[in-house]
Amino acid sequence: MPEILSVGAQVNLTIHDFAVGGEAVGRVDNFVLFIPGGAPGDEVEVQVTEMKKNYGRARITKIIKPSVQRVMPRCSMYHDCGGCHLQHVAYEAQLQFKTKMAVDALQHIAGLDQVKVRSCRHMETPWNYRGKVQMIVGAKPYLRSKTNTDEEMRYRPYAGFYAQGTHTIVKIDRCCIQDEQNNRAIAAAREAMERLNWPVYNPQDGSGTIRYLVARSSRKMQETLLVVVASQPRLPQINEFVDMVRKRVKHLRGVVLNLNPHRSNVVLGMRNQVLWGSEYLVEEVCGIKFHVSANSFFQVNVEGLECIYKALDDYLDIKPKDMVLDAYCGVGSLALYVARRAKRVVGIDECQAAIEDAVINSDLNEFTNTDFIYGTVERVLPGLYHKGQKFRSAIIDPPRKGCDPIVIETIAKMRIPNLVYVSCNPSTLARDLGMLCERGYRVDEVQPIDMFPQTYHVECVAKISRK
Ligand SMILES: C[S@@+](CC[C@H](N)C(=O)[O-])C[C@H]1O[C@@H](n2cnc3c(N)ncnc32)[C@H](O)[C@@H]1O
Repeated sequence: MPEILSVGAQVNLTIHDFAVGGEAVGRVDNFVLFIPGGAPGDEVEVQVTEMKKNYGRARITKIIKPSVQRVMPRCSMYHDCGGCHLQHVAYEAQLQFKTKMAVDALQHIAGLDQVKVRSCRHMETPWNYRGKVQMIVGAKPYLRSKTNTDEEMRYRPYAGFYAQGTHTIVKIDRCCIQDEQNNRAIAAAREAMERLNWPVYNPQDGSGTIRYLVARSSRKMQETLLVVVASQPRLPQINEFVDMVRKRVKHLRGVVLNLNPHRSNVVLGMRNQVLWGSEYLVEEVCGIKFHVSANSFFQVNVEGLECIYKALDDYLDIKPKDMVLDAYCGVGSLALYVARRAKRVVGIDECQAAIEDAVINSDLNEFTNTDFIYGTVERVLPGLYHKGQKFRSAIIDPPRKGCDPIVIETIAKMRIPNLVYVSCNPSTLARDLGMLCERGYRVDEVQPIDMFPQTYHVECVAKISRK
């Protein structure tokens, strides 16, 4: 550790890279400093904010010479809000960083340095791409004069996101990566709440009612579903609220009240009450229709989902006699895409609502060759193996934590010839690919996709075959 470095010290350095979490990296005598908001090539003056044995953290106090990759962030709240990490970096450089992140993970975590990693697929629309927003509702107290002498305490609600690593709500009036319809729906709901003086939930003591505002939009139908998350169902003047929102938001498909009485960070509760219109949206991607309800998981970036479909076309040569497994199938977005070509597709997911939606979606598209099984993949797949079930191809799309080792073992025992692994976490992807390679598989190619522009997150699709 260099002697000049301690908390509070100021040093000048040149930033040379990004780290996995989107922070920039600079070095002082080979000692690594993580620097939020930096861009490779920046010459900066920084102040050290944290020191550990092997690394430290610092904040930029002055940009001496900006990097050529540095651009003006589009959002005025960018530096306060924890939602985006790379708005200050040119889009091409964001893509290069994401490609490198995939390469580095494969090399450092799994020793897979011979695997071909394609350049990260860019989005035509790297702004306003998110089809779903969940905003936390807070309230600012103020005194309102009722008469010259009489005042009452009122609350002005606001909606926003938590600042990075805190529970402080940063008020966001218009989010640049959200579909504009979602921004309008949240703004309309917030204004209606204020006019009706709806009580905002206080997580400290559990008082108040309104907790979150959620909006989802369908790109194809251009419709929006507004979900008000409340701790209890009794809200004054509900009809007035719905009327106000309907007047402000064109193409509103429904307004839903979601009940979440639990004192935890989980946004949506299990019970929904339709206040007006429909309780679900219809989305259509590459000719496949999806029924998307308030609670179901659906890929937030439809253009990104189209890129996954393209990768499935390139990486899975499905024949009409093929049995295909979709492990972690959610509402069936990938299963239904391949069902057009396969003999039969079996989807597995641990979320009952998602499995119910997958069955609805299969019917909506008139497929008769799908089976959706409720349960964890680590429990259901070994059961299928013991029954002698065979698959020619498998899609594996687990959550961020990746697959349980039993799943990898079972896939290897089933000797499924062709696999496509879809992942939103390059580290767990690399770990699981390493395990597959030790069990008779080889990774042919990886395609990163920029599913989440302006953030450090990247989606990767890997083509894997038996050696
Ligand atoms: C990244 S999502 C993928 C969903 C789907 N493939 C899609 O593209 O919409 C991961 C899914 O895994 C499910 N899941 C998480 N852990 C699971 C487990 N152990 N077994 C089965 N499903 C699981 C979640 O419910 C979620 O639907």
